[in-house]
Amino acid sequence: MKRLLLLFPLFLGANEDFISHDEYGEMLYNNPRGVSCAECHGKNGESKVIVSFKDDKGMHVIKGSDIRNNSYDSVLASVNTYHAIMPRYYLTKKEVKAIYDYLQKNRYK
Ligand code: HEC
Repeated sequence: MKRLLLLFPLFLGANEDFISHDEYGEMLYNNPRGVSCAECHGKNGESKVIVSFKDDKGMHVIKGSDIRNNSYDSVLASVNTYHAIMPRYYLTKKEVKAIYDYLQKNRYK
């Protein structure tokens, strides 16, 4: 029993790696700070229509861009700057790396 108690802190530490890097990236892509990238960029970053509407100038379609071929640096820059439509996220480099790797892994799906 004493030995088990000594091992207990190790189990706690192991929890940190309970989800894999891929799962972490997928989770972040789908719910970073509460606003999903997928809502505007599609399930795997392939782009998605956010809204379309018609006015006196005709039909307008607002889309999230295809981000499957964006570099890590451009994803990092995009999520941490202000845009007209896209929110600013304040994600860490580690979080952006996980999202970037998720996009790389799934871009041919
Ligand atoms: C509310 C919709 C919306 C959400 C949510 C959103 N984006 Fe965007 N994103 C856009 C739009 C629209 C653009 C293109 C125009 C602009 O910069 O506003 C864009 C541009 C980008 C670009 C630059 C693409 C290029 O043209 O080079 C990247 C990279 C990107 N988004 C990544 C992300 C990631 C990663 C997330 C989640 C952390 C995210 N976006 C969440 C709408 C969104």
